[in-house]
Amino acid sequence: MIDRAWLATLYAAEQRRFEQEHPKSRALYQRACASLLDGVPMNWMVKWAGGFPLFVAEGKGAWFTDVDGRRYLDLCLGDTGAMTGHAPRATVEAVQRQAERGFTYMLPSEDHLWVAEELARRFGLPCWQFALTATDANRFAIRLARMLTGRPKILVFNWCYHGTVDETFATLVNGRVEPRAGNIGPPVHPAETTRVVEFNDLPALEAALAAGDVACVLAEPAMTNVGIIHPDPGFHAALRDLTRRAGTLLIIDETHTICAGPGGYTRAHGLSPDLLTLGKPIGGGVPGSVYGFSAEVVGRLKGKIPLADSDTGGIGGTLAGNALALAAMRATLEHVLTDACYARTIPLAERFQAGVEGVIAEFGLPWIVKRLGCRAEYWFRPMPPRNGGEAAAAADFELDRFMHLFALNRGILLTPFHNMALIAPDTTEADVDRHTAVFRESVSALPQR
Ligand SMILES: Cc1ncc(COP(=O)(O)O)c(C=O)c1O
Repeated sequence: MIDRAWLATLYAAEQRRFEQEHPKSRALYQRACASLLDGVPMNWMVKWAGGFPLFVAEGKGAWFTDVDGRRYLDLCLGDTGAMTGHAPRATVEAVQRQAERGFTYMLPSEDHLWVAEELARRFGLPCWQFALTATDANRFAIRLARMLTGRPKILVFNWCYHGTVDETFATLVNGRVEPRAGNIGPPVHPAETTRVVEFNDLPALEAALAAGDVACVLAEPAMTNVGIIHPDPGFHAALRDLTRRAGTLLIIDETHTICAGPGGYTRAHGLSPDLLTLGKPIGGGVPGSVYGFSAEVVGRLKGKIPLADSDTGGIGGTLAGNALALAAMRATLEHVLTDACYARTIPLAERFQAGVEGVIAEFGLPWIVKRLGCRAEYWFRPMPPRNGGEAAAAADFELDRFMHLFALNRGILLTPFHNMALIAPDTTEADVDRHTAVFRESVSALPQR
């Protein structure tokens, strides 16, 4: 048990230190309050622990420097957007070369083919399309699934996150589908568009598909956005079997689970989705995303999109597949997110896990660490959650904020809103051990009752 009043006092002390040590970020934030809504460029940035966000001067590899000249070990890495490390050399050079030749043409280049062929090799899906964000890739995959099946609904797992896709902002409340808390201006009640079941609940999944009105299941192969939740043994085989039997398409979103290996969780565990989506780090952080199709889906799509209306069907984006993004993707896939990269980063994540587990054991805490490839996370609960509902119930906002701010004040940035750490190609053993030492310091400061 943690004494909450004492925790609040400790947090206040960390906040004072944060404010004192970041006068330039603070001044920029105060200035931003006049020109940016709530002083931030994106609404959720108000949620960073500390009271205002750090303003970044520059980043390189696993580290960045803020405008106050302080250096940080970055374990957040742009929430996977910079999983390649900041400014990876090969991607920077490719972007520089392409920038001299033009950013966007609305026409293909040989890079599109190279990237599609490489994605086919990695994920086993033969055909690909491009978009700007993982959100868009998911939106387009959903639209295509609806068109192919002629069905109105999609199914997602409780507490999933797939970007700002309207249909996915749904959660289970006493077994009913309701708008997720904070859902801003939903177009319709999400029960009209979406079925929601708990991850790892196969009977519920089977029942939800039984009516035959679900176009697709959109799923992360292991949940990452409410903490890491691994599928039960046999879950994926059953998911595949149930979706096939129901005539429902299976879309696997690899945007975060690309941490599992060069071909994501799909390749690492031999999955065979109908469609696959991926964004964030695929261009080293340069905006771009992809979605791919199985041979069967390609066959079903043939002739379905009328030529005359192909530019206004709801799938597109003027800048989708732009030349700059494609140059970045090609270089990132060829030189950065390589087999060798994962051979380095996954053992470092194992070291991270072992270090944190050692501290948890030393202090006898009822906490655990979960890991997926080069991503690891600590949980303030003794058992791994099996689904999003259990995971969300274990959330501890105050403790999260304290741990984050404590780490930030000692030069470490964790992924906000949970306790996730991602390892970049440039992260070192010393960096990982530094986190372990700071984690130990934070735990020993914690007020136990
Ligand atoms: C699994 C998953 N899919 C899609 C997205 C959306 O990515 P973006 O915000 O870049 O569109 C996210 C964002 O966190 C994600 O975690």
